[in-house]
Parts: sequence; structure tokens; C-alpha cells
Amino acid sequence: MSIPRIGIIGGGGIATSHMPQLLVRHNDVEMYAMADINPAVKEQQADKFHIPHFMTDWRELLPMVDAVAICVPTHLHADIAVEALRHNKHVFLEKPLARTMEQTKRVLGAAKESKGTLQIGFVRRFDEEWLAFRKVIQAGRIGRPVVWRSVAANAGPMIKWFTLDDQGGGPFIDGTIHNYDFALYTFGPAEWVFAHLRTMGPEHTALDTGTATIRFASGDELMLAWSWGLPPKCGADGAFDLIGPEGSMTWTRDIAQDAEDGEFVIHRESGREAVKFSRRALASAYDRQMDEFVDIILGRADKPRAGASEGYESMRISLAVLESGRTAKKVYLSEVT
Ligand SMILES: NC(=O)c1ccc[n+]([C@@H]2O[C@H](COP(=O)([O-])OP(=O)(O)OC[C@H]3O[C@@H](n4cnc5c(N)ncnc54)[C@H](O)[C@@H]3O)[C@@H](O)[C@H]2O)c1
Repeated sequence: MSIPRIGIIGGGGIATSHMPQLLVRHNDVEMYAMADINPAVKEQQADKFHIPHFMTDWRELLPMVDAVAICVPTHLHADIAVEALRHNKHVFLEKPLARTMEQTKRVLGAAKESKGTLQIGFVRRFDEEWLAFRKVIQAGRIGRPVVWRSVAANAGPMIKWFTLDDQGGGPFIDGTIHNYDFALYTFGPAEWVFAHLRTMGPEHTALDTGTATIRFASGDELMLAWSWGLPPKCGADGAFDLIGPEGSMTWTRDIAQDAEDGEFVIHRESGREAVKFSRRALASAYDRQMDEFVDIILGRADKPRAGASEGYESMRISLAVLESGRTAKKVYLSEVT
């Protein structure tokens, strides 16, 4: 049997996190073609990763390959994913699954009819750091329900589409969707969201700043205060922790620059316990995520950790947060279908 061929559609930032591991797996799969609307990407990426075929029109790539990794801006996900699934290709689709519910439903419909498998790029499901704190929660070490708090503010990505409402949709879909998905994975289904969002960046059309609370049926909560609306070079304090009725988890920040491990600390009345994780946890999560995709292509795995239904559930929360953020009204997930 010949080696299955993979096509990469979109050779920008995130593709560079996926291609090194696909190269490592060259005995199992061949990176055969790349499509990017920008011809300069041939030299920047395709040549660098030894991909023999390059084109600017992704439609030409589909018949040449068995599987595709779709790494284009979010508003373009649906059209490409639907077409690839119709051609029965295995599809690795970067998160978020799409920008709108209409697009999401088209992808879900195509996935249902396809012989190909759809995997969504929720890399945190492979991240040993996040999996470690999930284990602590699920073991009840800090009690339940918990509140997971995440505070972050910066100028956001310098690439324009990320902060345009109809393209990337801003941080409350593009960035925090990792938190939505991981919270769903950890806490179970969500019940309602409440958000208050605004646009701060002068060139942004997306809601780029604000707060959101996502409440889960379990009683657990995800609390976000994020901004991509700061002027460049302005700093702000961040926070990332978990609190529960029997304790908390905090992240140690003053780790030596060259340390191999990071750590978080479980605080309980009875004392403290440090949990170490590799500082390469996220980088190796990208590798394991691609290993899963290769295993799906080779028929060694039939179900991805995050597939169509996980992509859909995280889209429901994203769209509920944006809706609540616009209207300042609580949105029940039962209303978002
Ligand atoms: N999982 C993660 O951690 C993570 C991190 C960053 C980005 N992402 C997601 O990955 C996707 C891409 O993000 P990025 O940071 O790589 O963006 P990017 O802007 O760096 O790269 C996108 C690439 O797609 C190309 N492109 C645009 N339109 C195209 C078209 N019609 N046909 C073919 N190519 C086209 C662009 O020329 C560019 O090279 C987004 O959905 C983003 O949300 C995921």
C-alpha cells in the first residue's frame, strides 16, 4: 500500500506548529501538497518542509491527497472543510470549527455524510499541563464545584483578520474557545453564559475586550476577563487559577528562565503540593495532536479526541458569549442550536 498523502491548506502561523511532526512521521504519511493564496508561502513554507507541490487554489489540491489539514483564517474553514469531506478526505480542521452557526451546520452535515473523519484542533486536550489540572479537579482535590479564572490582556494578534468580527471574531471565539472546549471536557455540558463585551482596538470590528461567565450544569464555572484591545507594547497583569470549596490551584511564576519544568501548586488546608509539568507541554501537545491525525489516516484510530460534536458544542458557547456580550443578557445554551 502506498503512503497516504496529506495536503496542507493555509501555510501561515499555525501550520508551522503541525508540519514538523508530519515530517517526523514521513514513513507513515507524505506531506504532498500545500495550497496558500499567497504565492510567497511556497518559498517560506512548502520548500522549507520539502512539500513537492504548491498551488494558490485549494480546490486543485483536493484530488491529489487522502487527507487535509485546514489552517486558513476561521471564516474560510467551512467552505473548504465541506468540500474536503464531500471528497471523503480525512480532515484536520483548526479551531474554531467555523465563524457562524450556519457555517458550523454545513460542516457537521458534510461530516455526517463523509467517509472521512473530522478532527478539530483542540490542542489543549493533548496538553499534559492542562490534563494535569483536570485530573486534580476530577479527583475532587479542591472540592466541587470549582471556578476556573482566566485574565489576560494584550494587543492581540498583529494579523488583521483575527480581530475582524466576520472573519476571526476576536478573542472570545478565537482565543477562549480553547477554554470553552476544555471546560466542557472537564465539567460536562454548559447551562448558560453571561458576558459584557466591547471593542477597544481602534481598527478592530470584533468585540475584543470584556468579561464572560460560563456556568455548567455541574455548578462549575469558567470566568474570563480578556482583552485583545490594548495598544501595542502595553502590558497588563494576567491571572490563571482555580478555586474550589476545599482548596485552590495557582501557577508558580518565578521559575528560572532555563528551567525544564513549570509547576502549579495545589493548596489545601492540610498543606501545599507542587505538580510539575514540562515547559514543552504545549509544543509536544501539537505533536501528539498530529500523531492522532496520522493514526486516523492510517486507520489505527477511528475517533478523534475532539471531533464534530466537540467542535459544535464549543461553537455554541462561543456564539452564546458573543450574543450575550452584545446584548448584556444571559443566554441559555438550550436556545443556541
Ligand atoms: N490551535 C491553536 O493553538 C491555534 C493557534 C493559532 C491559530 N489557530 C487557528 O488556525 C487558523 C489559522 O491561523 P494562523 O495563525 O495560521 O493564521 P495566519 O494568518 O498566520 O495563516 C493563515 C494562512 O492562510 C492563508 N490563506 C488565506 N486565505 C486563503 C485561501 N483562500 N486559500 C488558501 N490559503 C489561504 C494565508 O495566506 C496564510 O498563509 C485559524 O482558524 C486560527 O484560529 C489555532
